[in-house]
Amino acid sequence: MTAPEQWAFRALDAGRVFTPNTPIDEKSVFSGRKAQIRRVIDVVNQKGQHAMIFGERGVGKTSLANVIGDFLGGMGGEIVAPRVNCDGNDTFASTWLKVFDQIELIRNRTPLGFGRAGQDTSTYGASALFGDAPPTPDSVRRVLTTMSEGALPILIVDEFDRLKQEPRRAFADAIKNLSDHAVRATVVLVGVADSVDQLIEEHQSVARALVQIQMPRMPAGEITTIVQTGLQRLEMTIAEDALRRIVLLAQGLPHYAHLIGLHASRVALDTHSTDVTLAVVDQAITKAIEDAQQSIRNAYHSAIRSSRKHNLFGDVLLSCALAKTDELGFFAAQDVRSPMRKITGKDYDIPTFAQHLNEFSDAKRGKILKKTGQTRRYRYRFSDPLMQPFVIMQGVVAHKIPAGFLQQGDDSAA
Ligand SMILES: Nc1ncnc2c1ncn2[C@@H]1O[C@H](COP(=O)(O)OP(=O)(O)OP(=O)(O)O)[C@@H](O)[C@H]1O
Ligand SMILES: [Mg+2]
Repeated sequence: MTAPEQWAFRALDAGRVFTPNTPIDEKSVFSGRKAQIRRVIDVVNQKGQHAMIFGERGVGKTSLANVIGDFLGGMGGEIVAPRVNCDGNDTFASTWLKVFDQIELIRNRTPLGFGRAGQDTSTYGASALFGDAPPTPDSVRRVLTTMSEGALPILIVDEFDRLKQEPRRAFADAIKNLSDHAVRATVVLVGVADSVDQLIEEHQSVARALVQIQMPRMPAGEITTIVQTGLQRLEMTIAEDALRRIVLLAQGLPHYAHLIGLHASRVALDTHSTDVTLAVVDQAITKAIEDAQQSIRNAYHSAIRSSRKHNLFGDVLLSCALAKTDELGFFAAQDVRSPMRKITGKDYDIPTFAQHLNEFSDAKRGKILKKTGQTRRYRYRFSDPLMQPFVIMQGVVAHKIPAGFLQQGDDSAA
């Protein structure tokens, strides 16, 4: 390979290390989350307990679910951990059929895999197990009881929030059923939600059996590790201020750590350098914006569009993204005031931008914000958590954010 080819090759390689749109599926590149991992493992080891992993979109729920098996691997005994995604049309039965088909796939991929000895290869296929009868909480329990004699089943049901109420209720029944019979199998439900109650209404009846594991945003240290580990794998280095900038922009969302990390390493490699500087990160942000999910870009533009040249929509939205929030991400109009002052240099009072906030939570601006609470006490939040860092990145590129302000953010994020 010629030298230029080698650089180009390394830039391509960055795409295997930084994967903004693919959940992690390997322990070696999984960063942090020690407390959550430990809780899942405790659940698995406790007969009769099951888990619900919930949190904002994009915080790393699927990645965590994917590595459970790896983390348990060292503990001896065979594990089979299929993961399936639910969709809006799935029923309780169709979801379980997917689970058992997935188990069959895993089994066929592992030649010496679990329960192989002397067994017919189709023993675990959904059709062999259930015949024409759709799986029910009872039949699922019976099948899992038998299966758990060969290996420890950990059944990961992802995108659980997409299921309709009826199948969710059946899942609650099934979990109760498995728990009452102390079956040595663990169901792990994964979904986007602020609370478990949003996902399972009659959650009270399964409360003891279903351990809630909330995925918070990642602490700055874990985001730092994602970027550092990635760059180390690429045999690259990063300046301290550049690293801090990425951590600040990611806002605890690993997706952005990967997205900016990917572009920053490529910007550097394209100029035949292995060092990521602050200037490199700034260039990378422009690219990251272009490469952000189409849906995010469209939603952003339709939220701030206006026929009037001088309007405040962009500034108010940026101030919302920079506003101090509570732990669920909500802020009040009052919290928007201070960033507004710093961005525009003018002291706008709340009534000046109240209408903007109102429109942001209305369909005509795509409900970019979600509004809750009573009149005069409204609280707002970005409907899509991935939007907030995107808006801040737009602000950085447009040089709207005073340097000192980002610095402040650095401290609170660290
Ligand atoms: N612990 C981690 N270490 C390194 N990267 C991570 C980690 N957790 C998540 N990521 C990365 O963050 C991004 C989002 O992760 P993931 O898809 O697991 O989130 P999610 O919560 O399941 O999202 P969604 O709600 O959209 O399903 C992915 O690019 C993934 O590679
Ligand atoms: Mg997911």
